[in-house]
Amino acid sequence: MPAGLEVRGLCKRFGGIVVADAMELDLAPGRIVGLIGPNGAGKTSFFNLVTGVVRPDGGRVSLDGRALTGLHIHQRARLGLSRTWQNLRLFPSLSVLDNLLIGARVYPGESLPALIAGPGRLRRAEAADRTQALDILERMGLAGVAHTDVASVPFGQQKLVGVARALMNEPRCLLLDEPMAGVEGHAYEAIQDVVRRLAARGIAVCVVEHNVAFIRDLCDEGVFMFAGKVLARGSVEDLIADPRLTELYFGT
Ligand SMILES: Nc1ncnc2c1ncn2[C@@H]1O[C@H](COP(=O)(O)OP(=O)(O)OP(=O)(O)O)[C@@H](O)[C@H]1O
Ligand SMILES: [Mg+2]
Repeated sequence: MPAGLEVRGLCKRFGGIVVADAMELDLAPGRIVGLIGPNGAGKTSFFNLVTGVVRPDGGRVSLDGRALTGLHIHQRARLGLSRTWQNLRLFPSLSVLDNLLIGARVYPGESLPALIAGPGRLRRAEAADRTQALDILERMGLAGVAHTDVASVPFGQQKLVGVARALMNEPRCLLLDEPMAGVEGHAYEAIQDVVRRLAARGIAVCVVEHNVAFIRDLCDEGVFMFAGKVLARGSVEDLIADPRLTELYFGT
């Protein structure tokens, strides 16, 4: 059974704009892959298609050998697919902890058998979620701000909260959309450290980022995307040294 994420022939167009043109990509367990390419290349669209936010026109996606095609976002999340958002999408007036708890999973209380089983089980599930969230925050150095409104913590920490929330479903594959955008200083190392530790636990990681130094420092390999297609895959050094790719990156 193939492990990790497998994407085959993924296609999507919005009117005249092709965001995925028979896109193919494999993400192996424990590997950190950097996805780079100019604005509008289709990087975020790729995440949207893989996670089920956007319906593809065609193609297949599987995780650890299980077909994801046609599954709902929450079903894919339950199978171990997780992502962060380019524009964070946190709830600013909720605490850091509540941002992890809200919508992190479909509560067992939402199903009919669980309702019949009674509120005790729901309370235990909520308590387990809370313990798990506090554990994730602790491991990410965010325990001190668990009860602070997320809008009041520095932006770099908010980005970490976005990653922390994505860990609530214990992902097998994690997709990070521009984790460094707007971040400076200490958060740079903190985010790299978290991603490395996740990969060391066997999670397949894909990072979209315009900060090429960050990608070069962090990733095992890079993938260059343009107009909905993978044009090249290899070491990040080789990709950024390729004049054909830099022309596409900066010339558009
Ligand atoms: N829902 C949509 N409807 C119409 N067009 C869309 C939609 N989503 C994305 N697009 C278009 O698809 C193209 C690819 O967008 P996408 O957000 O995937 O690019 P990107 O590589 O993530 O770029 P950036 O680096 O700027 O984040 C863009 O031209 C965008 O305007
Ligand atoms: Mg994007």
